[in-house]
Amino acid sequence: MSRILIRQGRVVDPASHRDAIGDVMICDGKIEEIAPEIKREADVILEAAGKAVMPGLIDLHVHLREPGFEYKETVKTGAEAAARGGVTTICPMPNTNPVIDSPERIRDLLARAENAAVHILPIAAVTLGQRGEELADIAGMKAAGAAALSEDGKSVMDSLLFYQALQEAAKNDIPMFSHCEEKNLAGGGVMNAGEKAEKLGLPGITNAVEDVIAARDIIMSKEAGNRLHLCHCSTKDSALFIAMAKKQGLPVTGEVCPHHFTMSDSEITEDHGRFKMNPPLRSKEDVEALKEALKNGVIDVISTDHAPHGAEEKNQSMRYAPFGIVGLETSFALGYTELVKGGYLTLPELVEKMSVNPAKILGIDKGTLSVGSAADVVIAELDTEYVIDSREFASKGKNTPFDGKRVYGRIETTIVDGKIVYQRKREAERR
Ligand code: DOR
Ligand code: ZN
Ligand code: ZN
Repeated sequence: MSRILIRQGRVVDPASHRDAIGDVMICDGKIEEIAPEIKREADVILEAAGKAVMPGLIDLHVHLREPGFEYKETVKTGAEAAARGGVTTICPMPNTNPVIDSPERIRDLLARAENAAVHILPIAAVTLGQRGEELADIAGMKAAGAAALSEDGKSVMDSLLFYQALQEAAKNDIPMFSHCEEKNLAGGGVMNAGEKAEKLGLPGITNAVEDVIAARDIIMSKEAGNRLHLCHCSTKDSALFIAMAKKQGLPVTGEVCPHHFTMSDSEITEDHGRFKMNPPLRSKEDVEALKEALKNGVIDVISTDHAPHGAEEKNQSMRYAPFGIVGLETSFALGYTELVKGGYLTLPELVEKMSVNPAKILGIDKGTLSVGSAADVVIAELDTEYVIDSREFASKGKNTPFDGKRVYGRIETTIVDGKIVYQRKREAERR
């Protein structure tokens, strides 16, 4: 038997209403005991005084680029980035090459994920090849292990086909994760429509591009009776529509990415690919509305849309760079700095958005430190400011607008199924 004892940390486990200093004993991959003080032998002791001990983070929205774009990221490097970010479960989107659009593809991805540092729960495409023409085998993919459905990177533009997908999703009890983007309306936009886009002379993406599909998908899910999750909400009206859906008692949830609550388009300093993602950085008004929506419980989840790309691809004008920034190694710090330090959320509420609620949406038995549950645990240091340095990332992607940003909330140790998969510095003492 192998035991890890985490000593005297601030144990934050909203699922069991715990927020108190104490010891956590892990034995054979499970949480064995939590108490104010545990005086027992352990193989490894982690001193956590002054640090937070939380359930491992669960990221519902990441892009691993395997198969097809291994130069951007592999399952292995993406999982290592997750571990470094305190994320113990990740859900990769299906826009790889080939697209993850069949039971065989799901099984292949799960096989590739077998020895990864963190848990990997794949998301399956809605249509074959994400071409938006023909439904994929939703029942078969769910049976093969798909955790959710998504056409991420685009919307299923054909409303009838999308409605059929929602009905299939309802029948198979699998949630739909919607990327909301009206393709025709988006035109060739590369950043938020507005003053800054005009100043830089770049084509804009209006809020309506997102809002019309957010509204459509809520309306159609209501009829189909399935669970709907809106990915990377970036506009104030997306949040408003989710609030309306919740008021009606509909099973609609929403996620916001750290970049959308941290940075507005007014902070784009130059026409450079590191500021380009889809949906784009929005106005200050949208950023404020999203933070309020997180605070009010309208937005349930913080996920990253971790989208690694090659350095050359991103080191050019927004006109030509691909959409997407990396996020796995900065999400907790940005959440802690902007939302907890910023006075919008308490630390337990941040843990709800980054672990408890994602687990609920997936219907998995995670997001808690309760005795007997799998020991997916993260330890973070909260009080010392540090500077984000993308050169330290485990991800192959270094594309982030947050390089050099001063933040709080540094991940110290990440444990998956009772195994230490990341440790910032040598603190473990063997007895
Ligand atoms: O910024 C984004 N990057 N948005 C998306 O919808 C797709 C993603 C990617 O795959 O790079
Ligand atoms: Zn997307
Ligand atoms: Zn995405």
